[in-house]
Amino acid sequence: MTGLIGPEAVVLGIETSCDETAVGLVRGGIEVLSNVIASQADLHARFGGVVPEIAARAHVERMQPAIDKALRDGGVALRDVDAVAATQGPGLIGALLVGYATGKALAAALGVPFSGVHHLEGHIFAGVLDPGIEPPFIALVVSGGHTSLFAVREFGTYDLLGETLDDAAGEAFDKIARFLDLGYPGGPAIDRLAKRGDAEAIAFPRPLSGQGLDFSFSGLKTAVVRHVRRAEEAGERAKRSDVAASFQEAIVDVQVEKALRAAEELDIPTVVAGGGVAANSRLRVRLAAEAEARGVRFCVPPPALCVDNGPMIAAAGHFRLQRGESTPLDAPADASLKLI
Ligand code: KG4
Ligand code: ZN
Repeated sequence: MTGLIGPEAVVLGIETSCDETAVGLVRGGIEVLSNVIASQADLHARFGGVVPEIAARAHVERMQPAIDKALRDGGVALRDVDAVAATQGPGLIGALLVGYATGKALAAALGVPFSGVHHLEGHIFAGVLDPGIEPPFIALVVSGGHTSLFAVREFGTYDLLGETLDDAAGEAFDKIARFLDLGYPGGPAIDRLAKRGDAEAIAFPRPLSGQGLDFSFSGLKTAVVRHVRRAEEAGERAKRSDVAASFQEAIVDVQVEKALRAAEELDIPTVVAGGGVAANSRLRVRLAAEAEARGVRFCVPPPALCVDNGPMIAAAGHFRLQRGESTPLDAPADASLKLI
């Protein structure tokens, strides 16, 4: 199969599956030329979560300025873009459609190939953007919508080893943050507060730890709520920094344990983490330390490439187009697109 783009192609990547209007440029599949993320957190904060209709409308307003800035930051003229990639799914359909339709229109106007990218394949490619990591590796993808462990034996082939049976890790962070009145988005707020707390203050459960490779976070969430309520009933106020730190430690413990056990059981000594929760400072430190102790190579992109971003979509699109796979311009966006 011949590639539809050259190996050094510049790909413009667009991501609008949720509440970030994100655009980036990547050259040669790994060199990030720009990464523009116009966050909508301010718009959704007062609702305590993402409001789909507001997200879609805000993408419409922010899309063109984000594209202009990505081109400017990358020092690339629009006519020098060799291909366009955009998230095809999964995600909020109204939000997805803005970036997806924009991407197609740009590709058609420029006369270049288009790639509709699976959001999780994007998160996996974020992990290999800089260091040039090659399969096989274990991918831990932890975000607001997903918590999945994959064995990536070669790019484009993903074996699902485990996933969450209930809440995604980021969802658990967001729900507990809301419960503790820390605002939205919850992950970064808990990350910050936990730095002032004692991670061993409260022994929260480590759901499914040591059992299989699936995850479950709803029991942990209930345990946190019960702990805080019990303190209130006793006329006390649970120390919120200790609650945040102990909750975060429990959620991190489970992820570290499962990712490294997967590496050991499958004899694949490389772990790549991605997704918004991989921006968590404690998860990064713990995964790095435990991986080193077990002789496992660990790679996680900088936080701006863990959260939803354009370069990860450009990198995955580059891979697909190099393989000769483009997405027809009449292919629909899909809110529940499957990776496997
Ligand atoms: O990948 P992402 O930007 O969007 C989805 O695909 O869902 O992930 C967003 C999630 C949110 O739940 C957010 O609270 C969480 O990632 N997150 C974090 C941190 N930064 C973002 N969770 C824990 N610690 C962080 N520092
Ligand atoms: Zn994501």
